[in-house]
Amino acid sequence: MKNYFSIQDIDSLPDWVNEAIEMKKNPLSDKTLGVDKTIGLLFFNPSLRTRLSTQKAALNLGMNVIVMNFSGEGWSLEYEDGTVMDQGTSEHVKEAAQVVSQYCDIIAIRAFAKLENREDDYSEKVLSSFIKYATVPIVNMESATGHPLQALTDAITITENKKNKKPKVVLSWAPHPKALPQAVANSFVEMMQHMDAHFVITHPVGFELAVQFTKEVPIDYNQENALKDADFVYVKNWSSYNDYGKSSQDPSWKITEEKMKLTNDAKFMHCLPVRRNVVIDDAVIESENSIVIEQANNRTYAAQLVVKKILENQ
Ligand code: CP
Repeated sequence: MKNYFSIQDIDSLPDWVNEAIEMKKNPLSDKTLGVDKTIGLLFFNPSLRTRLSTQKAALNLGMNVIVMNFSGEGWSLEYEDGTVMDQGTSEHVKEAAQVVSQYCDIIAIRAFAKLENREDDYSEKVLSSFIKYATVPIVNMESATGHPLQALTDAITITENKKNKKPKVVLSWAPHPKALPQAVANSFVEMMQHMDAHFVITHPVGFELAVQFTKEVPIDYNQENALKDADFVYVKNWSSYNDYGKSSQDPSWKITEEKMKLTNDAKFMHCLPVRRNVVIDDAVIESENSIVIEQANNRTYAAQLVVKKILENQ
């Protein structure tokens, strides 16, 4: 594997999940694989879990780690060809990507959707430019349209926690005060289509995700109906794809203890960070069935597996 851009880069999901679960038992088993190699983590947006877990994963493999916050600290990058750069941008991605490649053996990038122009966001300008111009592999740490490290984490976490062969998994939209990208939901939806699960998406009318991700997945606009008999409830807000970037705070979609009682004693999942008592009630995230911390812990093993596979291919 050269790049990890989306979950399409996973050649065999069951093998990857099993390998990650084995790696979790002995995280230092490949501690010399990355010796004398460097990973650069470039952040155009904030992070807690992705930054620390990817750093930890690389350290477990013996790598050196360089972290750079591009927003605020890096030069403002130009992505268009032939631009007369006499306005706000200071450096073209053509140079920037090649320069970072001089210092790093792998580059991992976080660059969210701006939610201003759907075509721009869905063209994945930042990630695809780095993939085009860098001379080393690129890892997606959440791009405009996907968060494949989170989705791999979620596959690992569901596999570890499932009580039956084919669990019912519900992805539920929830309210949020800010407009958020569709990236986490897109990758989760993509991932669930590769897993053995009864998968249902529930959200208000108008919050349909892009059909390129949802394909034939059933959508139930009645949240309480969708939650019935669920084994896993994955909660996430996203802004509208069709009315691009429109958000909603409809409190009737908040996940409560009462709603969780409709499920088959479901495990509660969220990628975090989460706005308590807006997205979910305290009682749900603090319940015995909440596996959000375990999920966050698995971010390390998803990242470590991805970086390991790239190192093995170098
Ligand atoms: N889930 C996730 O990506 O968390 P961070 O935004 O904190 O990295």
